Amino acid sequence: MSASFFRSLPETAARRAPRAARTALWAHVLAATASVTHAAAPAMTKVPFGHVGDQSVELYTLANVHGIEARIMTYGATIVSLKTPDRRGRLRSIVLGFDTLAPYLAGVPYFGATVGRYANRIAHGRFVLDGKTYQLPLNDGPNSLHGGSRGFDKRVWTAQPIESAAGPALRLTYVSAAGEEGYPGTLTARVTYRLTNDDALSIEYDATTTAPTPVNLANHAYFNLTGDPQRTILGHVLMIAASRFTPVDAMLIPTGELRAVAGTAFDFRSPQRIGSRIDAADEQLRLGHGYDHNWVLDKPAPHAMGLAAVLSEPSSGRVVEVRTTQPGLQFYSGNFLDGKPAGTGTVFAHRTGMCLETQHFPDSPNHASFPSTILRPGQRYSELTVLRFRVR
Ligand code: BGC
Repeated sequence: MSASFFRSLPETAARRAPRAARTALWAHVLAATASVTHAAAPAMTKVPFGHVGDQSVELYTLANVHGIEARIMTYGATIVSLKTPDRRGRLRSIVLGFDTLAPYLAGVPYFGATVGRYANRIAHGRFVLDGKTYQLPLNDGPNSLHGGSRGFDKRVWTAQPIESAAGPALRLTYVSAAGEEGYPGTLTARVTYRLTNDDALSIEYDATTTAPTPVNLANHAYFNLTGDPQRTILGHVLMIAASRFTPVDAMLIPTGELRAVAGTAFDFRSPQRIGSRIDAADEQLRLGHGYDHNWVLDKPAPHAMGLAAVLSEPSSGRVVEVRTTQPGLQFYSGNFLDGKPAGTGTVFAHRTGMCLETQHFPDSPNHASFPSTILRPGQRYSELTVLRFRVR
């Protein structure tokens, strides 16, 4: 058996034991588990998922007591699939992804990945920090997008399974060297996925740095709650807890204005069918080719944990509720999905997936009026996003 089972084995004991002893320990755990009549399925398994150069990539499966299952790979700290039940109890993945590593390496647009060091755009890939100008590689027209040419989504992270009563958790760590993709300071970034038995996937981020640097970490899952990636997301119903959004210019860079959503196609304060206004004659929708904007979440304080969005899909009954400590939410309606990469079996057509990226506002390093994204030595970057799954 290639899978390893982590359930009910203290993490420290597992890490201390040499390989042969570990195998014996797993056998012992399995035997013990099998002898318990009401034993649930193993909460976490691990299988090899391929290689990037000489680095091996692993795929972890986290399951909760209700059969919800998240598969996470160490390449990009990426959510590969996320199975939740529909109202009839049928489990399907509600995020776009692939069963093998190859399509991810061939270049997919950040499917399920952790994006960083700076999620979203930095205009002209340039910012000034403490009087010094930094130039990042440009990988999105005149801008830097999602950390540059080889951002955190294209790195192999180190995984550490964690025991917890709330449900299985996986901590992934990536150390980004000073100067990598043009950013100052060595950044140690950690993302912890925890699948809890109350049907939530929490994603906890933390980071420390050796020199001042912008940091903005986000998950880039494309949701399709129908469970069928051939269907578009236009019939999904979305609520966003935001009275303002950040309008953009033609390069999708915020102008700096915080504009009221009232009376516009950007007002999702009450639930709206995504397709109902996406093609409205609206300058911002035209610039974004649909929705590709940051909403300013209504919160008592920028870092308060609060409701960001509720996404539902009437035919399956699935509902995902998003709560976060982050100040912004990028809702991207999959406008640039175009059926590529071809030849990998599954293709993802226009608007068959949508992202709800909890994060700081785009291009914050160039907007003094936006909440700061600068992390300094001695400080800890710490953010939490929780996705809760239910049906109606
Ligand atoms: C951005 C889109 C971009 C996409 C890349 C999103 O976060 O907002 O503009 O095309 O990422 O897949």
